[in-house]
Amino acid sequence: MAFDIEMIKGVYQQMRERVDKAREVVGRPLTYSEKILYAHLFDGMATQAYQRGESYVDFAPDRVAMQDATAQMALLQFMQAGKTKTAVPSTVHCDHLIQAKVGAKADLQDAIHKSSEVFNFLESVSNKYGIGFWQPGAGIIHQVVLENYAFPGGMMIGTDSHTPNAGGLGMVAIGVGGADAVDVMAGMAWELKMPKLIGVKLTGKLNGWSSPKDVILEVAGLLTVKGGTGAIVEYFGDGAESLSATGKGTICNMGAEIGATTSIFAYDDASERYLRSTDRNDVADAANELREYLRSDQEVYNDPERFYDQLITIDLDKLEPRLNGPFTPDLMTPVSKMKEIAGINGWPMTVEWGLIGSCTNSSYEDLSRASSIAKQAVEKGLETKASFGINPGSEQVRYTAERDGILKPFNDLDAVIFTNACGPCIGQWDREGADKEEKNTIVHSFNRNFKKRADGNPNTYAFVTSPEMVAAIAIAGRLDFNPMTDTLTNKNGEQVKLDPPVGDELPSKGFSYEDNGYQEPVADGSSVQVVVKPDSERLQLLESFPAWSGQNIMGAKLLIKAFGKCTTDHISMAGPWLRFRGHLDNISNNTLTGAVNAFNQETNKVLNTLTGEYGAVPDVARAYKAAGVPTVVVGDENYGEGSSREHAAMQPRHLGTVAVLVRSFARIHETNLKKQGMLALTFADKADYDKIQEADTFNFIDLTEFAPGKPLTIELVHADGSKDLIKANHTYNAAQIEWFKAGSALNLIKKQQA
Ligand code: F3S
Repeated sequence: MAFDIEMIKGVYQQMRERVDKAREVVGRPLTYSEKILYAHLFDGMATQAYQRGESYVDFAPDRVAMQDATAQMALLQFMQAGKTKTAVPSTVHCDHLIQAKVGAKADLQDAIHKSSEVFNFLESVSNKYGIGFWQPGAGIIHQVVLENYAFPGGMMIGTDSHTPNAGGLGMVAIGVGGADAVDVMAGMAWELKMPKLIGVKLTGKLNGWSSPKDVILEVAGLLTVKGGTGAIVEYFGDGAESLSATGKGTICNMGAEIGATTSIFAYDDASERYLRSTDRNDVADAANELREYLRSDQEVYNDPERFYDQLITIDLDKLEPRLNGPFTPDLMTPVSKMKEIAGINGWPMTVEWGLIGSCTNSSYEDLSRASSIAKQAVEKGLETKASFGINPGSEQVRYTAERDGILKPFNDLDAVIFTNACGPCIGQWDREGADKEEKNTIVHSFNRNFKKRADGNPNTYAFVTSPEMVAAIAIAGRLDFNPMTDTLTNKNGEQVKLDPPVGDELPSKGFSYEDNGYQEPVADGSSVQVVVKPDSERLQLLESFPAWSGQNIMGAKLLIKAFGKCTTDHISMAGPWLRFRGHLDNISNNTLTGAVNAFNQETNKVLNTLTGEYGAVPDVARAYKAAGVPTVVVGDENYGEGSSREHAAMQPRHLGTVAVLVRSFARIHETNLKKQGMLALTFADKADYDKIQEADTFNFIDLTEFAPGKPLTIELVHADGSKDLIKANHTYNAAQIEWFKAGSALNLIKKQQA
């Protein structure tokens, strides 16, 4: 059973009364996200109005989704919680551990061969605890969730930062770390600070070459990678209602790139069409009965400024296609300006690859629009200058697209159709020649473009754009190609122009598949054996982190002062390291190896004050740990942006780091640090970052008075014996302080279970 209609009907039943009550308690009309949040309070009916950006609230999400890379650690933790079944419907999706190299069939076999131990582990844990299992090749988590599980008015969490993709179908869907998933699967409350609300009013209608991707690329350019932090981005307006459900999914998906808690669109005709097309008439019927609850109250639409903390208006009529990048998804360049800007910046103009797909842009509509460009190229006698790679989002989309002739034009252009999986989007791309680290440009329809993200080459300049623009630019082979004004020379030496893309929102003959790759868990999993070999290099059963001693932490040493951008990729690199996601000790050997040391501007080279020598970050950390010396990591703004993986918190913790002190945090990472029993602190005075010296000792002199809202005092002892006292802020509430005291949130669950 792909989805649970009875569960959805239950949610809808309580939604009416809970929303009515919340409106009364809050004393004003509600936005759509607020309706969903108040309908999912862990304790039932609202009894108080929560302050946005202030109050910590306990929620009861309806579902959990996990991808294979993060599911390993999430389920290793869940196995310790002492439960026999997950408390809410949950799914595992095998999409990250499949490398793209020669094409779907061979790559999939290779992945199954290389990662069978992990896939078998995930399959057996899924069976044991009643979790739906999507086999390797079934598709990318967010596309599969949108097609099967997302429903308007629902709330879900997922152990992947692009979980908000389901907001395209009206769900509050939030990316979390595995420890949060454990809470929900264990039937406990899931805590979140009541998000602020950013309203984005869309007017007009997309036309010509512009696409939903351009909406979010524009928003990312406006708000930057931090602009959405702590907020839900709610889209509305006549422009919003002109978009397809999957187009909205694209926009919500990339809300992760501005740090948003999630993004959402209200239920509308496009949502209904999508539900019916994906074989969920009963969900559409149930949603139709509740229509007014599945959108904001009318007053919100009439006077949005009154209800949102920030309001942005975008006119879709005027939206031009754009490319964001390189190296950050918020560096936005409209296509008409690319010639000039790329020239000024010296970006390599020749495009070597065009990649279409990922969870962001792999819907039927995406593929059909991009395909219309490829088809024109073939018909107009053009040859593609760059290579093409395609990752369909799911077997359902792939099968249907193949049936309808959508993949044929790509095949005619010698495109490689990779597995229905993440592939190059997560560095799982065995790209020929990438090891030479040559400067080159690629364009893709993914969401992230940090250095090394696609192929491991730090000199690959990756630009994010829509699938149709990827197609046009790959055919032209030039970054500055503007399909709206430029012509191309065909095989006969003629100048030809590409017409704007056309495509189908949904397949006219409906979706279809032979085997969608889903595996239902057995009814009674009690006898299922989960095997983790003691000598496995891929999987390792977890040991509990030690509880806090109750004493002030004294004599901690600086492990690294990270300079500038430090994403979760810098803290725990993906690519080849994905294979160790289920083995904490092994994956810890990549800890912070991508972070730039502020003192020498080099990566993976930090001072070991015990020896006076420089070493790799994990080695130095292990040396301190062996000597019984705790360590501190210092970071800059938006530390830990990017993925939701809790490895970025567990690894430093495993290597003996007790505190991470930064100018500011990305939300998920901050929570992950708290859950793993670490101190997640921010400089009360951001200028104090400059006071941290290379050989500093950190004394947490009032940790015994750790309390909500009360900054901690840190005594910095410099190498020359001089001292600085600095204040560190934190956002721990009383319950989170208990996690710290217990050594981790999981330790506390175990204690409570016992
Ligand atoms: Fe996969 Fe990339 Fe999405 S890694 S889940 S396709 S962001």
